[in-house]
Amino acid sequence: MRSKISVIGSGFVGSTCAHWAASKELGDVVLIDIQGESAQGKALDLFEASPVEGFDSRIMGGADYALTKDSDVVILTAGLPRKPGMSRDDLLATNAGIVRTCVKEVVKYSPNAVLIVVSNPLDAMCHVAYEASGFPRERVLGMAGVLDSARFRSFIALELGVSVEDVQAFVFGGHGDTMVPMPRYVTVGGIPLAQLMTAERIAQLVDRTRKGGAEIVNLLKTGSAYYAPSASAVQMAEAIVRDKKRILPCAVYLQGEYGVSNLFCGVLAKLGAKGIESVPLLQLNEEEQAQFRASANAVQELVDAMEKLGGAR
Ligand code: LAC
Repeated sequence: MRSKISVIGSGFVGSTCAHWAASKELGDVVLIDIQGESAQGKALDLFEASPVEGFDSRIMGGADYALTKDSDVVILTAGLPRKPGMSRDDLLATNAGIVRTCVKEVVKYSPNAVLIVVSNPLDAMCHVAYEASGFPRERVLGMAGVLDSARFRSFIALELGVSVEDVQAFVFGGHGDTMVPMPRYVTVGGIPLAQLMTAERIAQLVDRTRKGGAEIVNLLKTGSAYYAPSASAVQMAEAIVRDKKRILPCAVYLQGEYGVSNLFCGVLAKLGAKGIESVPLLQLNEEEQAQFRASANAVQELVDAMEKLGGAR
């Protein structure tokens, strides 16, 4: 039977998610937006591309969550994007309300779906989705690590003049300025990065990765990145609907891993049909552990601020 992927929010990130998901033939795709006709129009337009591109996916759009019934995966992109000068955290109160409302609708129709949260500020919005859904932690995860790692991988590949496919890297921590790229674990065709690049240059690429989202916001001026964020969310969806058991960096509700509890934060997770199937643990050195702890503290502060606003409920 075909899988069903629903995307909530048909802005740039949501509609581009639908595009990647359809072109990979992950299954049928539903695009939901409060502006129902716009979502319907984008879905129809994408469906009409299918004979040209040769993908067999039904693509539907609208405002009615009944369309999402029995989805396997739901990607949540609804919410306002950043504008230049704004941090992801500036979106806290507004997006918490939007995400909570959407998730409550989603669970009515797809009580067994896996939720992939993309809305910002990412880690805090994962908390909202987790609380609002009542789902187990295996079925609520956030997209940030794949994106941040993709940026890190792109910069390394560009610098070394090698294929992006040969660069393995991951980023831990929250999706914000405190994120923790892990250069010690980067390999290029199996070769540790430290053998290919100076420590100084690595530090510069780590810094560019941390500011990768802002770099795009400053260029676009009217919104934030969408090609790489949507490709990243769809890679996670693919791991789930194809039960690939991929090890990908994702925001996971930690329950003691790396000394952090009851908090969403980016770590490596194994993704398969059930969502998060395990959280393989890395041996972090002291510096990595300290950076991860600082990043988790930043996420905790944001969650506390949101709870003061009544946001997670
Ligand atoms: C970024 C936004 C989507 O990192 O958080 O580009």
